[in-house]
Amino acid sequence: MKMKILVLSGDGIGVDVTREAVRVLRHIARTYGHDLQIVESLIGGVAIREAGTPLPEETLANALAADATVMGAVGMPGYEKAAPEKRPEWGLLQLRKALCVYANLRPIRIHPSLIESSPLKNSVVEGTDMVIVRELTGGIYYGTPRGRSGVGTARRAVNTMAYTYPEIERVARMAFEIARGRRKKVTSVDKSNVLENSELWHAVVEEVAAEFPDVALDHLLVDNCAMQLILNPRRFDVLLTENLFGDILSDEGAVLAGSIGMLPSASLGDLKASGFRVGLYEPVHGSAPDIAGQEKANPLGAIGSIAIMLECSFGMKTESAAVNSAIDRILRGGVMTADLRPAGRPATTSEIGDAICAAIETRS
Ligand code: IPM
Ligand code: MN
Repeated sequence: MKMKILVLSGDGIGVDVTREAVRVLRHIARTYGHDLQIVESLIGGVAIREAGTPLPEETLANALAADATVMGAVGMPGYEKAAPEKRPEWGLLQLRKALCVYANLRPIRIHPSLIESSPLKNSVVEGTDMVIVRELTGGIYYGTPRGRSGVGTARRAVNTMAYTYPEIERVARMAFEIARGRRKKVTSVDKSNVLENSELWHAVVEEVAAEFPDVALDHLLVDNCAMQLILNPRRFDVLLTENLFGDILSDEGAVLAGSIGMLPSASLGDLKASGFRVGLYEPVHGSAPDIAGQEKANPLGAIGSIAIMLECSFGMKTESAAVNSAIDRILRGGVMTADLRPAGRPATTSEIGDAICAAIETRS
């Protein structure tokens, strides 16, 4: 099969982890005889530096032309005070919007070999297996009016949390469909005791649920959900929520998996004429500029995102499983970066890539 992939390494450790993820992807293509074409473009802080904008037109055009996009991370110190559209993060937000990848899937599974890596008790994290489905192209991230006005003590700032019926409906439908392939349970998270926006969310999710009588639905308020995530993570199968709540809850959920470096993600849109979905694949972690370029970053979130891409964008179940089982195997062998608190010497970022490629080799 032909795969035309756009690679956006971005900033900080985005570069380190994407390098290894692409190596693994090339290795898979070679091993399974696929025709892989890779195009690289700029996004984020590095794009501001080299092209004057966090999402150059060429990057967007390449993303629209690619079969799938693989991203590293965006974020660079020095832009905290810049206008929103001059910040590295803006590039990613605009890319998500332009690709219309409205559903961000963040699976959280605890690898048995990492049970000691989580600061939570074994009895709590054991058996955790959930997918956070985060709405990604709406809500307070994009709502208008937004902005700051006034000076001195008259300064004021506003953001708007807005959702429309179709925006909630399509992501809810995706969550229910995913639940059908799992333990058939959706937990929808909102703040409907306070926000009208959440009242609409709650109501639309219930309407969609009526089409899926085989899937159980419950609702949690977001504050309670934050607590339940670490009190009783096994209660979650598919956790469906809006953009900002999903951003916050997924970092919290990362603690269950031992390290945020472990978490992959897929941002999906609608089916294309080709029958495959529009997809943007990125690890959940940020650019961590303090450890960039030091061979310390954990590339498994990025490599795991390749596994999801192979399945979701190309229907390659065998290839996807080969990557995931390579991840399992190297972790079982104790090969892990420092964030996972290994018993022996921590592996470097490239050693993880080496070990994954070797593990794929011995399997096939
Ligand atoms: C994420 C990140 C982004 C977000 C930032 C970099 C804009 O935190 O993907 O979780 O808030 O969505
Ligand atoms: Mn985040």
